[in-house]
Amino acid sequence: MAEREPTVKDKIQRLRELREQSKLGGGKRRIEAQHKRGKLTARERLDLLLDPGSFVEFDTFIVHRCRDFDMAKRKPLGDGVVTGYGTIDGRPVFVFSQDFTVFGGSLGEMFAKKVCKIMDLAMKTGAPVIGLNDSGGARIQEGVASLAGYGDIFFRNVMASGVIPQISAILGPCAGGAVYSPALTDFTVMVKETSHMFITGPDVIRAVLGQEVSFEDLGGALVHSQTSGVAHFIADDEEECMTIIKKLLSFLPSNNMEDPPVVETGDDPNRTDEHLAEILPDDPDKPYDVKDIILTVVDNGDFLEVQPLWAPNIVVGFARLNGRTVGIVANQPKFFAGALDVNSSVKAGRFVRFCDAFNIPIVTFVDVPGFLPGIDQEHGGIIRHGSKLLYAYCEATAPKITLILRKAYGGAYDVMGSKHSRGDVNLAWPTAEIAVMGPQGAINIVFRKEIAKEEDPEQMSKKLTMEYREKFSNPYIAAEKGYIDDVIEPAETRPKLITALEMLVTKRESRPPKKHANIPL
Ligand code: HXC
Repeated sequence: MAEREPTVKDKIQRLRELREQSKLGGGKRRIEAQHKRGKLTARERLDLLLDPGSFVEFDTFIVHRCRDFDMAKRKPLGDGVVTGYGTIDGRPVFVFSQDFTVFGGSLGEMFAKKVCKIMDLAMKTGAPVIGLNDSGGARIQEGVASLAGYGDIFFRNVMASGVIPQISAILGPCAGGAVYSPALTDFTVMVKETSHMFITGPDVIRAVLGQEVSFEDLGGALVHSQTSGVAHFIADDEEECMTIIKKLLSFLPSNNMEDPPVVETGDDPNRTDEHLAEILPDDPDKPYDVKDIILTVVDNGDFLEVQPLWAPNIVVGFARLNGRTVGIVANQPKFFAGALDVNSSVKAGRFVRFCDAFNIPIVTFVDVPGFLPGIDQEHGGIIRHGSKLLYAYCEATAPKITLILRKAYGGAYDVMGSKHSRGDVNLAWPTAEIAVMGPQGAINIVFRKEIAKEEDPEQMSKKLTMEYREKFSNPYIAAEKGYIDDVIEPAETRPKLITALEMLVTKRESRPPKKHANIPL
């Protein structure tokens, strides 16, 4: 029994004590263990991510309602996740940060309710959601209530998709069905060595399949950045992770009804560059780095590449032209001669769809010899996966500007933002080669019998190749038909793209009403 009725001062003091208590999460020992693992706490992470002093916390006093397994004796305030809102570069964002020091960051009923609450507010106010994940997954003690909690989050991830940007940072374990919330979001950032994602862990794999694999080799940041394509960005440490998220957000609108911020970059929109003509080798079969072209053309060479290590035969990412955000898609001749394969089609298809959902103009640089031939590709479903990219371009109503640098062969010509998939402005360099296939393949099919009859078939083949190149391997036949709006000099690429972009700012286009389309998944 208290000796006296508490005063107002006492009550305020009690509030302060509870707040302090909530900040301790799972206690000092577990915070130390977290630091020893090379990881920050949930709150330290928010401090790094948000503008100083901007964080407003929700549901500090929430506790779980579980009574099994002696859980009633352990009811840490906040229940293992810190949620709320704040600003990044002055723009509102909603955040949840899983606290590994409380039951391993595992997700139970009330934890999930906290996350859902801020997701609902983000949807209502039109602001991005950023999830900082560090969790042992479904809270075992809470059974189906945890699974229900995940299900409620998954549903909201899907409802929010294409309405507000959703970004996931993986900063520790992320296991089992828990990986599906990050997977449903738009971008996933992983941190080297400390973050892991998998459906079934090394122990289960050992038990079921007898295979030995480490956490890192199974689901580490490098594996998901290079091999699986699950992660979009890889960071050396948590600080870099937060920097990547901030940079990414700087290119994006806060919701699908807003335009991305227009930034004063100080780069002259009329800047021409003679160096661009020197990037392409004279020999059309020699590779070059398409990123040299991108970096020369965009504002201040500032390009945020998405999934740089996975499917490197296509380059995607964000940049600005005269201060306006654009999504860039470019074939990369340095890998597989820039041919489209299963992974590059999926990578670029998803990126184009993201840009379109948020009305971010898509600038496509084309140098593609076609789809990658091979039994692996055919059996891996290149027909199904390649059609995703084609589908994404046709479906997109955001401004689409396409520049053919060199090869645009076969079906890949149609796929890569062609006029026929409703490209708004289609340009070509004089080095463009637009044809059904490359000269060698073409003459071998069309003139096989004639070449075989020749005394010197090699000489004949060379002559026909030259003729084919002269006739078909140029942009003028496509330009004659209006499939290309103009042939431009490489040096004037930047001003030409910017002029097109400015013209398209007010573009409005719609597709037939339908429940939803049926992308070939
Ligand atoms: C409850 C959990 C927990 C969980 C960890 N903890 N995971 N509590 N439910 N899922 C607790 C531990 O009991 C421990 O509590 C604290 O968190 C830290 O865990 P440690 O094991 O000591 O840490 P560490 O050695 O770093 O290992 C971390 C870990 C491991 C790899 C995450 O704990 C682990 O394998 N956990 C289980 C992961 C898992 O299988 N989750 C279910 C996935 S299935 P104390 O009190 O000692 O600090 C799933 C289904 C989702 O999530 C379905 C959605 C549809």
